[in-house]
Amino acid sequence: MSLLFSQTSLGPFNLSNRLVMSPMTRNRAIGNLPNPLMAQYYAQRAGAGLIITEGTSPSPNGLGYARIPGVFSQAQVDGWRQVAEGVHAQGAKMFMQLMHCGRIAHPLNLPAGARILAPSAVAAAGEMFTDAQGMQPNAMPQAMTDADIATTIGEYAKAAKNALDAGCDGIELHGANGYLLEQFIRPISNLRTDGYGGPIEQRARFVLEVVDAAVRAVGTSRVGMRLSPFGVFNDMPLYPAMEAEYTYLAEQLSARRLAYIHLVDHSSMGAPPVPDSMKATFRSQFKGALILSGGYDFKRAESDLVAGKADLIAVGRPILANPDLKTRWETGAALNAPDMTTFYTPGPKGYTDYPTLG
Ligand SMILES: Cc1cc2nc3c(=O)[nH]c(=O)nc-3n(C[C@H](O)[C@H](O)[C@H](O)COP(=O)(O)O)c2cc1C
Repeated sequence: MSLLFSQTSLGPFNLSNRLVMSPMTRNRAIGNLPNPLMAQYYAQRAGAGLIITEGTSPSPNGLGYARIPGVFSQAQVDGWRQVAEGVHAQGAKMFMQLMHCGRIAHPLNLPAGARILAPSAVAAAGEMFTDAQGMQPNAMPQAMTDADIATTIGEYAKAAKNALDAGCDGIELHGANGYLLEQFIRPISNLRTDGYGGPIEQRARFVLEVVDAAVRAVGTSRVGMRLSPFGVFNDMPLYPAMEAEYTYLAEQLSARRLAYIHLVDHSSMGAPPVPDSMKATFRSQFKGALILSGGYDFKRAESDLVAGKADLIAVGRPILANPDLKTRWETGAALNAPDMTTFYTPGPKGYTDYPTLG
């Protein structure tokens, strides 16, 4: 019996196995609303013990990309309810990833009246796709005022409650990959001179206040956090104090008794590797569950679990392309290859039409 496919628990939740579906933005939420096509996609993949949804915005201001879902309106909550029901009917648990894009955004992707916010008025290098005008440079954000900070923290708390109202088991705060929370953590994007900028204790303050607000809203056992130490995606370069600063974050999140930390390692996608010492620090300093992700196949998932490096293993592209990944890994069957050309396009092609074993 493999460890990966044996039952386990995550706080109060029983999981049918230790395989987690990684959060993946798929841009099928027309009008930023979850829909029956999305419900079908997630239900197809509910052989995983835990599904983490695609990045979902807690605010109109956080909808940086085209066709990503939100969880701030009643219609969005109602849309997510059908997704959660479908996943639960297959026996999996579901956490919603709350992703506020911050400066990784373009005004053409945002609804009327929404604002592009970040810790400081520093635009990220790079471009982003818009339905109306194709690739466009990332926008110049507005530096958040004290009022913006308070409002945004409130939006995260309300979104966490909304996720539970929609039937999700919990939420994952997206503190990785260059989005709003990481924009506060990293010195390149946070040039503030107030209590939210400067040393790491202050650059981490917004993140920890969001954590505290989410925990007050739904409880520690329903809040996890995704982090990408050594991640460089979305114009987030490496810097010397990185390992020490993320060690501070691990300690702070442990003190807050979060359900889990979910570490990103995108070295399989060409990013710098996350040093083993950094992963080991999270393992020793953080008392909750640790999820590792990035480039896993069955063999490495199993061996990292056996070695005690992680409690759960999250998988992205393999489960995107193989709704029945669990069965395929269990039986050693061949895998469908992911089709990158349909990762972010609307409609069922490359989304709900990957074949399962007959
Ligand atoms: C199409 C696609 C969309 C993604 N969207 C998100 C996202 O919304 N939130 C996030 O934290 N990571 C996102 N990621 C990163 C994945 O969660 C994961 O870390 C990455 O794919 C590496 O894991 P893998 O090697 O198992 O695919 C995305 C990856 C892909 C391929």
